[in-house]
Formats: sequence, structure tokens, C-alpha cells
Amino acid sequence: MPRFSSEHLCSEWLAINARFTADAQRFVIDFACQHAASLSEHFYREMLADPGASQFLSNDEVQNRLGQSMQRWVAGLFAPTTEEGIFRLIAEQRKIGEVHARIGIPVHLVLRGARCLKDRFVHLLHHASELDENTRFAATRLASDTVDLAMEIMGHAYSVSHDRNSRAEEAYRLFAITQNIANEKDQQRAALFDWENQLMFSQAIGTLPGELPRIQASDFGLWFRHKGIHAFEGSDEARAVMDTMEEIDNVLLPLFGTDEQNTALATSRVDLLKDLRDKVKSIRFHLGNLFEQNNELEAGRDVLT
Ligand code: HEM
Repeated sequence: MPRFSSEHLCSEWLAINARFTADAQRFVIDFACQHAASLSEHFYREMLADPGASQFLSNDEVQNRLGQSMQRWVAGLFAPTTEEGIFRLIAEQRKIGEVHARIGIPVHLVLRGARCLKDRFVHLLHHASELDENTRFAATRLASDTVDLAMEIMGHAYSVSHDRNSRAEEAYRLFAITQNIANEKDQQRAALFDWENQLMFSQAIGTLPGELPRIQASDFGLWFRHKGIHAFEGSDEARAVMDTMEEIDNVLLPLFGTDEQNTALATSRVDLLKDLRDKVKSIRFHLGNLFEQNNELEAGRDVLT
């Protein structure tokens, strides 16, 4: 049976109860109901005084809604003894965990809240003068173990929900970036052609090698280095485009001047141009693949949203 299945948790909950006499259980149920309001008040007093926790709470909210929710939680935590009642209680803890995850309350604050409630519960028990020591000890253990189990269930639901939210956010972020990229597709293909034309023209009119337009400084190169690379992060094609651009600028373009100084290299200008064309072709090919992958992502849009 999986650790966090309702069946497993229910058997754990029943096992905790079974360790205590019916009298001790009855006592804790009554005690929790009797002190629910004061426990809730104490909880929110402490939380509102805590700079980290108070960011998530307003006085009005606590007075109008949260105080009541907390009272109900305290009073209801020990009451059910049937399997059906405990299943309901487990579902409630999961829902609270999800609510906390949705509004992003850090786990350590929720745990601090639990510590604060337990501390107050023990304090109240300590001052319940009518109690014999055995019942006081049993009530302390029962209350503490039950709160811990509830927090465990809440914490698990919290982390599952938090992970799910994080994945959804990441998928959305990626989707948003790729959406923009899809709009850029035609523009960037055109920008790459522009740079290539400009280079050919510069070559034709005999521009000095040092003055040839660099691909990394072109509109396409700037876009790819500053935007595209982040969106296509981690892909082999994106790396290949970056490497090819570097090679064009740092290796190929400087070679364009050498044939004029050395007649033995007279044919090299043609070879260089061919080489250049192949490199631009490979960039175009990789770019096509990257946009293709983007299209596939877009096709998954309904799944992501
Ligand atoms: C032992 C720890 C805690 C317990 C047992 C607890 C219990 C609850 C319960 C029963 C609800 C109502 C859920 C529903 O709508 O069904 C709730 C909601 C809420 N809790 Fe907690 N809570 C704990 C810790 C905290 C802490 C530490 C904070 C803030 C720092 C907090 C802030 C809130 C807020 C803001 C909501 C309202 C969410 C909404 O409806 O928009 N809780 N909590």
C-alpha cells in the first residue's frame, strides 16, 4: 500500500488512536472543542506578530474567516473515530495543504504554526488542574501525534501541489518564450539573408576584411545571442549555431584578405565563399529545426494550459 494512500494513512490514524484508552480519547476530543477558540486566537496572535507569517495575513481576514477555519480544524481533528470520518479528515488535510501551496505560504511557517498550537495545547493541559498525571500524559501524546500526522499529510499535499505548480509555471514560461519566437521566425530568417547579402556585396566591392560585416554583430546574430539562445537553451542545434557564427567571424572572415597578398592562394576566395555559403546553410538548417521544435511545443499548448 503506497505510503500516502488514504488507506495507509487511515490505518496510521487508527493506530494512533488505538494506543490510548477510550477515556483519554474522549477527554482530548472534549478538551480540543472546549479550547478551540482560545487555541485559534493564540495561533493567529503569534502568527500576526511574526514578520514572516504576518505578510500572508491581515487582521480583518483573521477575524472574519481564518479564525473560524482554525477553530473548526482544532475541534474536528480528534473527533472522528470511524474509518469514514478519518478518510474525510485526511481529505481535509490534503485540501489545506493545497490551499497553502496555492498562496505560497512557506512550509517552515506552517510547521511553526503547528509547533505553536502544540505548545499551547500542552500549556493548557498543564494548567488543567482536574487531570491525573496519566491522563495528562496520554492526552499530550495523543494530541501531539495526531497534529504531527495531520501536518505530514498536509506537507505531502503541499509539496505535490507545489511541484505541480512549479512545472506548470516552467512550462508556461517556456511556452510564452516560444510564442514570441514563433513571431520572430520569419523576421530572423530574413535578417540572416540580409547579412549574407550584405557580406556578398561587401566582397564584390572589395571591402577590407577587417570591415566585413560580422554575423555576430548583425541583427540576426544579436537576436540569436541575446534572445534565441535562452529560449532554445540546452539544445545541440543552438550550440551549433553559436559555434558556426564564431567560426565565421573569427576564422573565415579574416581569411578573405589573404588571397590578394598571396597569388598562390588566388582560388581561395571562391573556396572561402563556398565555405561561407555552407556554413550559412547549416545555420539556416539548425534554425529551421529549432523553430520546428517550437511548433511541436505550440501544438502541445492545450496540454500545458
Ligand atoms: C498548523 C498550521 C496551520 C493550519 C492547521 C492551518 C489551517 C488552515 C485551514 C483549515 C484553512 C482553510 C482552508 C480552506 O479554505 O478550506 C487555512 C487557510 C489559510 N491559511 Fe492556514 N493553517 C496553518 C498555517 C498557516 C500559516 C502559518 C499561515 C500564514 C502564515 C496560514 C495562512 C492561511 C491563509 C492565508 C489561508 C486562507 C487561504 C484562502 O482561502 O485564500 N496558515 N489554513
